[in-house]
Amino acid sequence: MDIARTPSSPDGNIEMADAAVEPHDPPEIRREDYRPFPWMVPETRLEFDLGLESTRVRSRLTVARNAKADASPTIRLNGDGLIPTSVKIDGEPTRAYTMDGDDLVLTLPGEAHEIAIETEIDPSSNTQLMGLYASNGMLCTQCESEGFRRITFFPDRPDVLSTFTVRMSGAKDQFPILLCNGNRTDEGEDGDTHWAEWHDPWPKPSYLFALVAGDLVARSDSFTTMNGREVELNVWVRDGDLPRTEHAMESLKRSMKWDEEAFGREYDLDLFNIVAVSDFNMGAMENKGLNVFNTKYVLADPETATDGDFDAVEGVIGHEYFHNWSGNRITCRDWFQLSLKEGFTVLRDQLFSQDMGSEPVKRIEDVRILRLAQFPEDSGPLAHPIRPDSYREISNFYTATVYNKGAEVIRMMRTMAGEEAFRKGTDLYFDRHDGEAATCEDFVRSIEDGAGLDLKQFRLWYSQAGTPKVSVELTHEGEEAVLKLRQTVPPTPGQPDKKPMPIPLKLALFDQQTASHSGEQLIVLDTESAEHRFDGFANKPVLSINRGFSAPVTIDRAIDREDLVFLAASDDDPFARYEAMQDLMVRHLVAAVAGKLSEEERNRGGASIAEAMGAILADPDIDDLMRGELMSMPSQTYITEQMELADPGLIHAERERLKALVGSQLSEPLHRLYERAEQVPFSLDAEAKGARKLKTMVLAYAAASDPEKAAELAAHQYDRADNMTDRQGALMVLTGLEGVERTNKLLDFYNRYEGNALVIDKWFALQASSLHPKVVEHVKALADHPDFTLRNPNRVRSLYMAFAGNPQGFHAASGEGYRMIGDLILELDPINAQTAARFVPPLGRWRKVEPQRAALMREQLERIAKAEKLSRDTYEQVSRSLAD
Ligand code: PHE
Ligand code: ZN
Repeated sequence: MDIARTPSSPDGNIEMADAAVEPHDPPEIRREDYRPFPWMVPETRLEFDLGLESTRVRSRLTVARNAKADASPTIRLNGDGLIPTSVKIDGEPTRAYTMDGDDLVLTLPGEAHEIAIETEIDPSSNTQLMGLYASNGMLCTQCESEGFRRITFFPDRPDVLSTFTVRMSGAKDQFPILLCNGNRTDEGEDGDTHWAEWHDPWPKPSYLFALVAGDLVARSDSFTTMNGREVELNVWVRDGDLPRTEHAMESLKRSMKWDEEAFGREYDLDLFNIVAVSDFNMGAMENKGLNVFNTKYVLADPETATDGDFDAVEGVIGHEYFHNWSGNRITCRDWFQLSLKEGFTVLRDQLFSQDMGSEPVKRIEDVRILRLAQFPEDSGPLAHPIRPDSYREISNFYTATVYNKGAEVIRMMRTMAGEEAFRKGTDLYFDRHDGEAATCEDFVRSIEDGAGLDLKQFRLWYSQAGTPKVSVELTHEGEEAVLKLRQTVPPTPGQPDKKPMPIPLKLALFDQQTASHSGEQLIVLDTESAEHRFDGFANKPVLSINRGFSAPVTIDRAIDREDLVFLAASDDDPFARYEAMQDLMVRHLVAAVAGKLSEEERNRGGASIAEAMGAILADPDIDDLMRGELMSMPSQTYITEQMELADPGLIHAERERLKALVGSQLSEPLHRLYERAEQVPFSLDAEAKGARKLKTMVLAYAAASDPEKAAELAAHQYDRADNMTDRQGALMVLTGLEGVERTNKLLDFYNRYEGNALVIDKWFALQASSLHPKVVEHVKALADHPDFTLRNPNRVRSLYMAFAGNPQGFHAASGEGYRMIGDLILELDPINAQTAARFVPPLGRWRKVEPQRAALMREQLERIAKAEKLSRDTYEQVSRSLAD
């Protein structure tokens, strides 16, 4: 628990509210308790005297009573660890304020006033990376969700919109570049210091405020909008990183163009700045006109970034840019509505990336992420609806559920409405709510009215947590195919009983002989069970269902293995093909892990999977990017989700065994594929990317079936690599194997990229996620490496998130892995609570794990819960993980 600093006043003579120490149980904030703020803040003026150790902040707020809210004689200005050095009302110094915990409460007699407050903060000691902090000698801010209150006292809630004017001054040599939201309106100098004034004409909530000051250089460009407005674009980085900003800039221009075409959205300022910082809690932040990015999502060139990194940069640049409309022009009324901006913006960035590259491959990747990150959330103690009902610490709700399931929910509306009607719905939404702080309900109603859909029952997707399961059975009677569907929505914490939800399912019925169907259909399952009859089938057709992953559900289908093999080879929906392959493998692995297969059945099952995969290797009609998807094995996490109680050790072993079996049975065609891929020269086009994906995939299968051969091939690939994708792929495989090449190449990699933080992050992550049996020891040693630090979130994640996702490490039967994560959480919590809390969910999954390990996982949670001081973030996650 964070002990609140004792507030003091300049004259030590203010009224004190009693709660100087936070209760051990931080209060629960509930969605139904929302009340509009009694005051409006039409204008905010801020002045910053910038210094790394000491920054003085003077704020002047004009406030006026909010006619739409209940009148209140007091105004509460949120603070977090701030001490006011001066408070004035209408120009007069006043003592008539109280400190209520960290908040400053003033009594205001009239209708409108001006409040002026001064505070002083120390950015250099800000390790939480919320509010104003120092990173590599520069100053930057992060205000979402509640960071602005660490800078100055303010109604720090998203429904209070204000027009910001900012003046900042600082040492010329230390902070040559001074940036803020909006447009720069004035600048000047005064000896060694200089100053700049910025004005943002668009009213915004405090969480979108941003300021950056430092020694930066820009790649500059421009974009002309659909209505001929010329926008100056800059990507700001540290000197030396400029050559790695081209892809970010190109992605930005593509995003701007795409949003005009796909959603009719035009940019609304003359300037758009992106700044890359190396210390950042999340991916990036959509501050109005001044996006702040984790360097990971800006810097990319072929030598240091993988194909995956390039795609991620494009996706995140798009995501933050798209927030300008879905998030900034229309913001959230309260933080329970987070999915209003995040779910919608994730959908927008997914559609953008689909249009920029391969649509089916992007769809499969997005489903993979959903299953890896969101399904476990939905089936565990932290399950919550995409619009949560309560929280203790909002930072804990920036989840895959709010983001990725939120995107799936809106995607379902789009599927049901059709693209054109959906666009009418979003047009109406942007039109109706521009300039407002809106709710999810506002969004749904706009889609209903604009697209002409009835979403009455569909709203359940916003209030019910849990991944629905749909049982599917197809029978054949005479000329008719009969489809029986049944849905169950599992109980989740606080929601024991669920109502049936509308589940849009795209399906096709295949004729076995001709491998064709007479058209895709969409049915919406909105009752607990339903039956559909399809006429004109002399023979029983093969059912392809949830095509394109039309609904974020689990399908439990009674289907013969031969039919899955048929779909894997012949379905014209690429996702359905992928899904058939996944199903084949998941079924086999689940049965094997459960001990239901004899040795002989195990081998036969594996052989038939290899056969299906062989057909995919040989299919000339698919491109290599897609081939790589079809060849990938289901993740350990996804397999775990299919089981009541999982034994991580067994799942891992069976999965490796299947990999080895496939690798040895297909050794010849895999190596032919490798040789073909090796001939493709480096470029960033789809063909070359596909070739690189296959090469590493082949190495991974070989590592399981023929480690010596794999080591040789991987070492060779490492040596002749002219790009990071090949080099990292080779090193990944080598890191999992024994032998000198492992040591040599790890050393070479480190020496080659020493000093390049993002690449050294990869070096840590590769070792922490490796298949090597001694991974626990390796990670322990890496934690003592001079390059390791708890102060940098990227570094922490590269070592420990990778480790927490590694079944061999994290789930080591001894419990050592759990203890390491427990230790990390306790040590990191006082430094960076937000990041520390993100390590709790892996331990929280103990209920899905076999009893011995489960007890060890629980033990760590209980140990953390007993800590004397815990942040709100970690406290909430741990207590929810232990609750029954
Ligand atoms: N709003 C950011 C995004 O999704 C994420 C973020 C949240 C960043 C909180 C920082 C802090 O684009
Ligand atoms: Zn976002």
